[in-house]
Amino acid sequence: VQEAAFVSEEISAFSQVDGAASACALVDFLDRTAAAHFSEINQRSFEYLRLRESASALDIGCGTGDDVRMMRKRVGAGGSSTGVDLSRLMIDEALQRDRESALRSCFLVEDAQGLSFPDNSFDACRISRVLLHVPDAESALSEVVRVTRPGGRIVAIEPDFGTMALAHPDRETTRTVLNVFCDSFAHGAVGRWLSVWFRSLGMKEIQCEPHVISIDAAFLRHGFQIEKAIRRASDLKLAAVERCDDFLPVLDDMAAREEFFCIATVLMVSATKP
Ligand SMILES: C[S@@+](CC[C@H](N)C(=O)[O-])C[C@H]1O[C@@H](n2cnc3c(N)ncnc32)[C@H](O)[C@@H]1O
Repeated sequence: VQEAAFVSEEISAFSQVDGAASACALVDFLDRTAAAHFSEINQRSFEYLRLRESASALDIGCGTGDDVRMMRKRVGAGGSSTGVDLSRLMIDEALQRDRESALRSCFLVEDAQGLSFPDNSFDACRISRVLLHVPDAESALSEVVRVTRPGGRIVAIEPDFGTMALAHPDRETTRTVLNVFCDSFAHGAVGRWLSVWFRSLGMKEIQCEPHVISIDAAFLRHGFQIEKAIRRASDLKLAAVERCDDFLPVLDDMAAREEFFCIATVLMVSATKP
């Protein structure tokens, strides 16, 4: 996928991949972020799922299916690994990538808010970077719980963009721009709710592991498309137009002087269904 594709889509478009202007930009975003930020988090999620030989595993909102294939290897020939996603395009990409696998996985188009599986179907379920895009995130998490068997393990991994910190001398405009960016998602700050919701769903052994990810200047600009949040803040008159106009040039200068600093938190919460 070319560089140009990467810069053409806002990541809030993950709520409707099949209607996005450039779905291949979204596939590219997943490949880049998996490599840059999520390889260690993903490996840890498989540990928390306690995947054993012959287990049945489900990944909800599986995207390109790379994590489904990783789980497939861990559960061996006697196990099964299933990936579901709202997007037909993502499921086709996942099926394409699975063609060469020695152990094949199952991929289906499904909405996380209403899964077709019977209660207690899987030993281990995971949902990663999905709930922030889902209109009814809490009921999607309750679906994850419903399809997990008693004693089964669940892992949810979601960012909390409400925790973003960006070094910029204009603190007021920074606050506004980051809030507008967070609010461009259905649930940009869903990370903080995971353990709260697990508790209210009656889960036990709830463990919350925060991961801080470092965001570089290029990623803030091209991956997070921060320019669009700045423009929105200006258009909605949430911040002064001239301060919005100055915002990115100041960041670019800071990056040129190696003074750029930006972080966000990703929460990984694991639980056992009683
Ligand atoms: C940011 S991607 C994450 C993909 C994968 N879990 C990963 O971590 O690489 C979000 C995925 O959630 C899917 N998605 C969005 N809304 C969904 C819904 N209501 N039900 C199921 N999948 C959904 C998108 O199509 C997309 O593939």
